[in-house]
Amino acid sequence: MLLTTVLHLLCLASLAAAFLFNRASWDGLKVTWGMDTHNPNTFAALPRQESEAKQDGWTKIADCDKRNAVVSFLRQQQVSGVRYVKDNDYSIILLFDRNGYIAGIQCGNGTDPVSHSIHIPMRETGLATTSWTKGHCFAYMGMHYWHNLTADMSCEYFFPAFLLYNKGALTAFGWATGLGLTSKRFEHPPHAAFSSFLNPVPLCLNQYAQLSTMHIYFTSDPTAIAC
Ligand SMILES: *[C@@H]1O[C@H](CO)[C@@H](O)[C@H](O)[C@H]1NC(C)=O
Ligand SMILES: *[C@@H]1O[C@H](CO)[C@@H](O)[C@H](O)[C@H]1NC(C)=O
Repeated sequence: MLLTTVLHLLCLASLAAAFLFNRASWDGLKVTWGMDTHNPNTFAALPRQESEAKQDGWTKIADCDKRNAVVSFLRQQQVSGVRYVKDNDYSIILLFDRNGYIAGIQCGNGTDPVSHSIHIPMRETGLATTSWTKGHCFAYMGMHYWHNLTADMSCEYFFPAFLLYNKGALTAFGWATGLGLTSKRFEHPPHAAFSSFLNPVPLCLNQYAQLSTMHIYFTSDPTAIAC
C-alpha cells in the first residue's frame, strides 16, 4: 500500500530529530544494537501503544497541542504528538497518536522537531535517485545508508540519522553523533570500527575517538538480520 511505503524524517538540529511512521507493516520496536543478546539493554523492546507505555512506567511529558503538532504531509492531517519518556531519559521520546498507537520517535533534549521533512523509501531500490549513500552491512544491523557522505565533507554537514535495509526492505534506522551521549540506549563504536559501517569514512571524523549511535528497529527479531 502506497501510504505505508514512506516514512517521514523530521530534523531540526543536530540532535533533535524525529521519525514518524505508519504502524501497519512492522512487527516490533526495539532499540540498541549489541552482540550480547543477554544484556537487557540490547534490543530492548519499546512500547507501541500508549497503554503499554503507561504500564511499563513511561511518563507523559507533553500532550498534543498546536505548537507540538507534527503535520503528516502524506495524509494532510495532524499526527498527535503525545510524548513519553522513561526514567527521565530524553534519548528516546515516544510519540503516540490520538488513538494511542505509536506514531514516531524523537531523539533530543526537548526541542520541537517541526522543521523540514524527508520521505524515506520502504525499499532500498527507492534510494537510487536520492542523496543517500551506501555504507556497509553489519550483522544484526543491516545495510547502512548515510546522507550525502563524502571523504572531504565538513562534519558540520554530517547528517545525524542513518537508514538500515535488510533484504532490500527498510528494517531500522538510527542516530549517529559525535557528542558524548551517556544514556544506556546509545552504543559507542570506536574510531577503528567506523569503516565497518561508513563508506567513505569522512576525514573530519578523525577528531572523534568514538561516536554515539542508536539503532532503532521495526522488527521483533533484530538477530535475524544477516549480511
Ligand atoms: C540540550 O540543549 C541544550 C541547549 O540547547 C544544550 O546546551 C545541551 O548540550 C543539550 N544536551 C544534549 C545532551 O545535547
Ligand atoms: C552534500 O554535501 C555538500 C557538502 O559536502 C553540500 O554542498 C551539498 O549541498 C549537499 N547536498 C545535499 C543534497 O544535501
